[in-house]
Formats: sequence, C-alpha cells, structure tokens
Amino acid sequence: MTFRPFRRSDFDILWKIDQECFPPGIAYSKHELSDYIQRRKSFTLVAETASDGRHPADPDVMPSGIMGFIIAEASSRGVGHIITVDVLPVARRTGTGSKLLAAAEDWLRAAKCFRVRLETAVDNIAALAFYNRHGYAKTGTIPHYYETGLDAYSLEKEL
Ligand SMILES: CC(C)(COP(=O)(O)OP(=O)(O)OC[C@H]1O[C@@H](n2cnc3c(N)ncnc32)[C@H](O)[C@@H]1OP(=O)(O)O)[C@@H](O)C(=O)NCCC(=O)NCCS
Repeated sequence: MTFRPFRRSDFDILWKIDQECFPPGIAYSKHELSDYIQRRKSFTLVAETASDGRHPADPDVMPSGIMGFIIAEASSRGVGHIITVDVLPVARRTGTGSKLLAAAEDWLRAAKCFRVRLETAVDNIAALAFYNRHGYAKTGTIPHYYETGLDAYSLEKEL
C-alpha cells in the first residue's frame, strides 16, 4: 500500500468507497464529500495498491487501486478534526486505516493542532475499537447526529 495526496481525478472512486463504507444516511452525498475535500484547511490522503485495471468498488468506472482515504481538517484554534477514514472491506485489518490515521495526525501536528476530535456512530463497533486502539477517548454523546436519527459519540485525543 502506498499513500499520496488526493488528486481531483480520484473523486468518483472516493465517493463510491464512502458509499460502500457507510450505510445510507451516514455516507456523504457527493456535495458533502466534495465540500470537505475542498475546504481551505483540509487534507485528504489516499491509500492505493498497484492496479490491475479493475476496482472492487466499481470495476466499470476507471482503473484504480485506491483502497481507502482519510480527510482531516485543521482549525485556527488548534483543534483538528478527522472528518472520515474509509478503508474498503477487502483491505481491512492490514494496517491501512492505522497508517492513514497516523499520517493525518502528523499533518495536524504540523498545522499546529494540539488536539484532534471526531464523531462516530454509537453502533460502529469496528470504528470505536479502532479509535480506542489509537488513544482516542469518548468525550460525550451527540443525540440524533445523523440524518437517520442515530446518535454519535464524540472522541478526542491529545496530539
Ligand atoms: C475503521 C476502519 C477505518 C479501520 O480500518 P483498518 O484498515 O481495518 O484498520 P487497521 O487494520 O489499521 O486496524 C488497527 C486496529 O484497530 C482495531 N480494529 C480495526 N477494525 C476492527 C474491527 N472490525 N473489530 C475490532 N477491532 C478493530 C484493531 O485493534 C486493529 O488491530 P488488529 O488488526 O491488529 O487487531 C475500517 O474498518 C473502515 O473503513 N470502516 C468503515 C468506515 C468507518 O467506520 N470509518 C470510521 C468512522 S469515521
């Protein structure tokens, strides 16, 4: 797996990966995803393998070996935000999510963030285990955070 910054031509496959990683009502619309990626203080890192020309999320669209990505955003108050981290099911439990998260945390430190926060659905057991493994602690519950009515936990980590 190699890691590189987002390129505009990646957008469609990133959106399809997000659709595959999250259920309806939690996955981003194209507009939302595009907005997060284009924010002035956000950073998107892509994880990819050598491509055989077909992609598991959509073999018809384009040759791509992109297996995951992360979007992080810095703030002027020194608190960074992990907007999303997405790894396709075929590429999970091999350290890709951890490498994306570590790279995003490094980027936030370089952007003078001393803390990072994020939200995740209260029923997302894999994500909660993943963030716990990486030193994130629950700081509260946000009722009805998602448009489905599902609550989210807020989590934080000191950088
Ligand atoms: C959460 C997610 C990003 C993890 O990515 P990943 O590449 O599988 O993560 P890693 O391989 O780096 O896992 C690191 C550790 O996290 C924990 N972990 C990850 N997935 C887990 C799971 N399904 N169950 C329990 N623990 C898990 C484990 O401690 C794991 O270490 P181990 O494999 O040695 O036991 C991935 O499951 C995913 O994309 N899920 C859908 C999208 C999502 O929920 N994103 C997070 C919310 S924003």
